[in-house]
Amino acid sequence: MRRRQFLKVLGISAIATSPRINAAPLASPDEVSSRRSPTHQVEAGHRCQILLRWGDPLTSTGTPWHPGITSPTDYAGRFGYNNDFLAYWPLQPLIGERNRGVLCVNHEFTNPQLMWTGCLTTPEMDRSRTEVEGAVLGHSVVEIAQDGREGGWRYEPCSRFNRRFTIDSRVDFTGPAAGHRRLWTALVGDGKFAHGMLGLCGGGKTPWGTVLVGEENFQTFFNDQVTTDAEARNHQRYGVGAECYSPWWARHFDRFDIAKAPREPNHFGWVVEIDPLRPDSTPKKHTALGRFRHEAATCIVSADGRLVVYSGDDAAFEYLYKYVSADAYRADAGTANSKLLEEGTLHVARFANDGSLVWLPLAFGAGPLTPKNGFNDQGDVLIEARRAADLLQATKLDRPEDVETDPISNVIYTLLTNNPARTSDTLDAANPRPENRFGHVLQLLPPGAPGPKAQHSAPEFRWRIFLLGGNPENPLHHAQYPGEVSKDGWLAAPDNCAFGPQGGLWLTSDSGALGAALNRADGLWRCRRTETGHGSPRRFFSAPLGSEVCGPEFTPDGRTLFLAIQHPGDTLNSCFETPSTRWPDFDPALPPRPAIIAITRDDGGAIGG
Ligand code: FEO
Ligand code: CA
Ligand code: CA
Repeated sequence: MRRRQFLKVLGISAIATSPRINAAPLASPDEVSSRRSPTHQVEAGHRCQILLRWGDPLTSTGTPWHPGITSPTDYAGRFGYNNDFLAYWPLQPLIGERNRGVLCVNHEFTNPQLMWTGCLTTPEMDRSRTEVEGAVLGHSVVEIAQDGREGGWRYEPCSRFNRRFTIDSRVDFTGPAAGHRRLWTALVGDGKFAHGMLGLCGGGKTPWGTVLVGEENFQTFFNDQVTTDAEARNHQRYGVGAECYSPWWARHFDRFDIAKAPREPNHFGWVVEIDPLRPDSTPKKHTALGRFRHEAATCIVSADGRLVVYSGDDAAFEYLYKYVSADAYRADAGTANSKLLEEGTLHVARFANDGSLVWLPLAFGAGPLTPKNGFNDQGDVLIEARRAADLLQATKLDRPEDVETDPISNVIYTLLTNNPARTSDTLDAANPRPENRFGHVLQLLPPGAPGPKAQHSAPEFRWRIFLLGGNPENPLHHAQYPGEVSKDGWLAAPDNCAFGPQGGLWLTSDSGALGAALNRADGLWRCRRTETGHGSPRRFFSAPLGSEVCGPEFTPDGRTLFLAIQHPGDTLNSCFETPSTRWPDFDPALPPRPAIIAITRDDGGAIGG
């Protein structure tokens, strides 16, 4: 999420109720330290390699990056800023120890104070700098390869697969809201396509080889104009007009001024499909999956053959959604399966205190989703998915971040990162702590789970708590883990997750100001697979100062783990001239740079357990 927003919403105070508390040992030998540091730390026996940094040229004509580059056109040919979601797709079968593939990377937001001189003292962002911001956001597709002898990774600056998508790239709409009148704008006319992708955060991979990326905090790109037009209620529900990040976007580009272009925000908040293996393909915004602040778009084929996509809406008191395709996935249909994302039913979760869960369909005409409540067709329901979910009385959660399905058990892990605004009178069993600063992880169980086949498309699930973050030694935290955790191993603010080659669960964190206050680095944790599920987290990696860890993505052989290190140096009063770290270059002439790292084992084996 955007750091400034996070600082604003984070409150510090004690927690008042009391679930179970686990005792914990004081320390765990060999575990990575939780202390904040200017550089990263990884578990002994592993090495980290810097693979891609902001500004690295992705074209044959690109020159090495330096901070004096000012051309937005130049930046549109370079690796973007603040890398979040990662997806790796092999380009060829493994040959010995050599891998080759494409890495797909989201670029979520910018840190102007770390990108340019004078940004802490000069409030003005001129048009050129704002255009550069637009050019470093979006998505990168980059070909990468592993050296057979050394096992090291490199990227290919001249690959035909290398692509950048920015705020100017064309993206076609599909599904019930494509061409909807509420998407008509002066710039694109009939609402069949949009310019660009905003706030790309979590995502997912489809079974047919494409990536789905979620537009999350799109509202922050629009100005704080108050409007009274037909979209006013819609904008208010999404924070458009109230959560402006930079007024300069609207000053320099009319489409980000909601007084001039009140329907432009409706072009954002969708799931975008990108086909990285077809460099000529046009990305698609699949409106059937609904409009909200998407975090994750996790695909799984249900036992009945239908495609299911889980996605969270990352804001306090927002919802968890599930999309179910109308037709079944066909392995022999290849990318034609993309049509599954155009026709289906979006659902939202209602958790009950008895451990049951109902998925409520967001279907025009059903229940309250009628003209009486301002919904005139399915396009309206999808454009205003949040308001539809309100009317269906879905469960308001503590900021849903990543959602992933355990490929072995079919248990779904839902990461709720924190919600300091949760009060005692709004508690429920799925959100059990007031002023939830540390976040928690829920497990969802579709019929058939745990087990190799599960009905992800079913209307009713079960759910249970996997862990409650925080320090188990501090009774005020009311932390709860599956087993013991060490003083370095407890975590706060879970954000992304992945499953490793041996079925282990890997969790990342984004604790921001809380981590700074506690002098605890964000990082990556491994929860080993057990006979009954997964054990307690153990710290595997600590991130450099000011950064969060995103993406965790393994190669199919499990021998490489890619991590996205986002906003290094983003600490209080840290700026271009005097950053709190210069990771990863540690060159006194360069600021810190968001970067992708590749982790391998010293002995070349598969990582983790
Ligand atoms: Fe961009 Fe929900 O973190
Ligand atoms: Ca985050
Ligand atoms: Ca996130």
